[in-house]
Amino acid sequence: MGKSAVFGSDKGGVGKTTTVTNVASALANKRKSVGILKSDKNRDLLNWNIKRQQNGLPAIPVYEAYGDISKEIKRLAALHDVLLVDCAGHDSQEFRSALTVADILVTLVKPSSVFERDTLTDVTEKVRKAQKVNPALQPWVLFTRIETNKPSKVKDAIELDKFLRSDLVWVQPLKTRLSALDIFESACNEGAGVHDVARGNSLGKAKGQIELFANEIGIL
Ligand SMILES: Nc1ncnc2c1ncn2[C@@H]1O[C@H](COP(=O)(O)OP(=O)(O)O)[C@@H](O)[C@H]1O
Ligand SMILES: [Mg+2]
Repeated sequence: MGKSAVFGSDKGGVGKTTTVTNVASALANKRKSVGILKSDKNRDLLNWNIKRQQNGLPAIPVYEAYGDISKEIKRLAALHDVLLVDCAGHDSQEFRSALTVADILVTLVKPSSVFERDTLTDVTEKVRKAQKVNPALQPWVLFTRIETNKPSKVKDAIELDKFLRSDLVWVQPLKTRLSALDIFESACNEGAGVHDVARGNSLGKAKGQIELFANEIGIL
């Protein structure tokens, strides 16, 4: 039985799909059997996978399921070392049912955005409810899209980190943070992840962050 990691948020545009594709590519490049379960109706992952095939990159199966996806998560996790579940950017049955069976939840936040920080209240509530039926669920907040060259943005991350750690009722933040780097996006545009790319600005930094993240949540 492989591990299942759900990427969910009550908000769109936080970086779920970008992170899922980059992590999937990292795992595939490290010879792990990885699958992606798409539970968002938009075409992002389908288009990514078509480009991936066109560009001759190592195949990563993308499955689809909607509604109550708990059974499908269990079935697919058994077929792979790691199953990454990409959710839609709003409260959904897919997200809530995924939390009842998944091993790991990652919810993403850009620390400088009040809108994104505010999603943590509802997500925390959903997580604590899900843990009553799935006590093994390990939930994490991943700080992402941080403009690490701007001291005020780094300060926002440090302050949010301190705030969440001050009360364990909150889903706790990961030590690893992802920077805002064009290469995460440009890799995705080509059906790739940063681990498929040969060269580019900040490539080493981007690959390092993805590996540290995957390691910290226990899927690498
Ligand atoms: N770490 C990052 N650095 C730079 N851009 C990012 C990063 N993560 C996501 N993005 C960009 O943010 C936008 C939203 O990302 P996406 O993965 O589609 O979010 P979601 O799946 O949560 O809706 C996209 O334009 C994507 O390229
Ligand atoms: Mg998405």
